Amino acid sequence: MAKDFYQAVEDRRSIYVISDEKVVPEERVQEVVEFAIKHTPYSFNATSGRIVLLFGDEHKALWDLTKEELRKIVPAENFADTDNKIESFKSGYGTVLFFEDQDVVKGLQEQFALYKENFPIWSEQASGILQYVVWTALENEGLGATLQHYNPLIDEEVKQRWQTPDSWLLRAQMPFGKPEAEAGEKEFQPIAERIKVFK
Ligand SMILES: Cc1cc2nc3c(=O)[nH]c(=O)nc-3n(C[C@H](O)[C@H](O)[C@H](O)COP(=O)(O)O)c2cc1C
Repeated sequence: MAKDFYQAVEDRRSIYVISDEKVVPEERVQEVVEFAIKHTPYSFNATSGRIVLLFGDEHKALWDLTKEELRKIVPAENFADTDNKIESFKSGYGTVLFFEDQDVVKGLQEQFALYKENFPIWSEQASGILQYVVWTALENEGLGATLQHYNPLIDEEVKQRWQTPDSWLLRAQMPFGKPEAEAGEKEFQPIAERIKVFK
């Protein structure tokens, strides 16, 4: 049964230890990702968010190609840590790739010149909202996920392998799987320092 909204917000955490045991069917993951992209708001309702959803061997291929790109830039003596990290993402059973379609952003800039400078910013903000909705939805389904940023290092390889249009700009990667360890301790900066209320 779905959690209450506030509980889901509180329970969404970065879960780094994940496995590929299918606790949620792929069809259900696809359904919640589709729900998230449908209902996430965009400025002017111009939906520039794009997603590539990878499962199984396709998901593994992403982390293999990421590792190979990293191998080109990480000194060999430090590569073991990188290798472990990438293997931990690969241990899950899927990854959500988040893109923003730059053709949509450019179209808005042409159509509404007054807000020209805002559209790239709003596109990023809306992508963040989409990422958050997907992340929380995956958590709500009993999965563990993290948010990763190997773009732009992997952009070209991703484009070639999954044939994404040139206008799709990769913004984030979210590997997910069955949670195999609790999230780490998290410190909370006092709320009173972060919010002002006037009444
Ligand atoms: C915009 C943004 C970018 C982030 N980038 C990364 C990242 O590249 N790699 C990573 O492991 N975690 C990344 N995180 C996760 C944060 O480190 C994490 O959310 C934060 O420490 C709070 O922990 P929690 O997710 O468990 O609540 C990012 C989070 C946000 C919101």
